Amino acid sequence: SSEQAAEYKRHAAELAAEMVEDGMVVGLGTGSTAAFAVAALGRRYREGLRFVGVPTSLATEHQARELGIPLSGFGEHERVDLTIDGADEVQRGTLNLIKGLGGALLREKIVASASDRLVIVADESKLVDGLGEHSLLPVEVTPFGWEATARRLAEVGAHVSPRRSRAGDLFISDGGNLILDCHFEGIDDPAATELAIGSIVGVVESGLFIGMASEAVIAGPTGVARLHV
Ligand code: A5P
Repeated sequence: SSEQAAEYKRHAAELAAEMVEDGMVVGLGTGSTAAFAVAALGRRYREGLRFVGVPTSLATEHQARELGIPLSGFGEHERVDLTIDGADEVQRGTLNLIKGLGGALLREKIVASASDRLVIVADESKLVDGLGEHSLLPVEVTPFGWEATARRLAEVGAHVSPRRSRAGDLFISDGGNLILDCHFEGIDDPAATELAIGSIVGVVESGLFIGMASEAVIAGPTGVARLHV
């Protein structure tokens, strides 16, 4: 059930929040699982732990502010010690990821790439053998010429649909861009796909996170597992 899934998410997130140590710069992820980690970090801050957060979305920034977590950015800090974030798919063994179904992939990827450690928190349903098994691949593109960019994406094998808001308008990301949700018949070579997509003019970033996660905390009915690359 979704209540059960929420319990698994909370379990994984709280374990990851325990990895934060005094003085750290901490990347704060986006989505329902990361929100449990931010909540746990808010509690730890109230109890006296001192750290600064780098939020990966406006939603997370809002949550962290409400909890009194001090926030920072790359003007003050060159690196992030540890980022805790969710994912839409986590590939067994490699810990390669699909992210961005929540629409925050660009900021998430910037923070992840500046992080010494990226710890992914998820319930077991996110674990896959091959990326693209369950999830669409979100690709963030500039609004100008998005139809042309969508055609180039189709040429590399994607069935493309622009993400829309509930009202039916084109969805606008935190960065002011559009998201094209791409369906692939399996992503056999994620690194090659990432390269092919990234070389299309108009693409800002794709939701493929290759070789970025150092660890995943995955919770399910049999407990919680810490996976390493
Ligand atoms: C946000 O843009 C995404 O990358 C999220 O990290 C992802 O969608 C996971 O969200 P949940 O924890 O809500 O499944």
